[in-house]
Amino acid sequence: MTRRKIIGIIDSGVGGLSVLETMYRLSLAEEIVYIADPFYFPYGEKSKEELLPIVRPLLRFLVEVGKADVIVTACGTVSSLCLPDLRSEFPLPILGILEPACREAVKVTVRKKIVVLATRATIRSGSFREALQIADDSVEVYEEAWPEFIEAVEQGNFDTPRWRQWVGEQLRFFAEQGIDTAIMGCTHFALISRFFEELAPAGFVIVNPACACAQEVQALFPDYPLSPCGDQRLRIFVRGDLTHFQQVLSTLPLVLGDFELSLFPSALALGSEARCV
Ligand code: DGL
Repeated sequence: MTRRKIIGIIDSGVGGLSVLETMYRLSLAEEIVYIADPFYFPYGEKSKEELLPIVRPLLRFLVEVGKADVIVTACGTVSSLCLPDLRSEFPLPILGILEPACREAVKVTVRKKIVVLATRATIRSGSFREALQIADDSVEVYEEAWPEFIEAVEQGNFDTPRWRQWVGEQLRFFAEQGIDTAIMGCTHFALISRFFEELAPAGFVIVNPACACAQEVQALFPDYPLSPCGDQRLRIFVRGDLTHFQQVLSTLPLVLGDFELSLFPSALALGSEARCV
């Protein structure tokens, strides 16, 4: 008999729910444990040295308490800055969103011009540019950081006429430059990829890393899916304001089954190494 499979997922807030939802729909495990970290939001304005002590307690919890078999850093920033360190410290597979998204983007671009929309820290790291060029060195890479829009998604305030107009204008501007593909390099954008698709000009492709990332997890567990998605246990832990998180969650167009929502255990809340920055 195969052992139960548990997937652990982390993000600074609601963004990684895009990955949770995709894995839930594909029935990739018997249990998915998600940790949101609004206390330290935004991750996208932090350095690797600031982020590592912030995320280590989350991974430790997923390994020791959650009994995860695999961890997905469903955050473009952690995937860009911290993966080699975390992989050397934790004894289980840790997947990020970067390489899967880049492999998918080079497959779909026709004009070989791709824009990456992400956090400032992700763009500064050059991680997507590098991964895209490894995947196909003939692609031209453009990069944009939209921290204010990430904040609007985290607060549940993104679907307003002002943001619709602004995002639509940006996407049309990219298309005028010959760009035909945008990678949601920040999972807060992946979470609302349907919003982007509605506003994108005809023929412009939105790459949501959640799908490619789910395929990588599926490759690790070839004997899944085993059960219909209704049988999966979903647990969401929040380090920060649980009430606010719950409010925003209720406004999101997510297709999820029943889930258990709790505060991240307070003894671990700040981690032994992390301080509020
Ligand atoms: N979801 C995080 C990412 O994908 C960004 C949000 C933040 O800045 O914390 O990078």
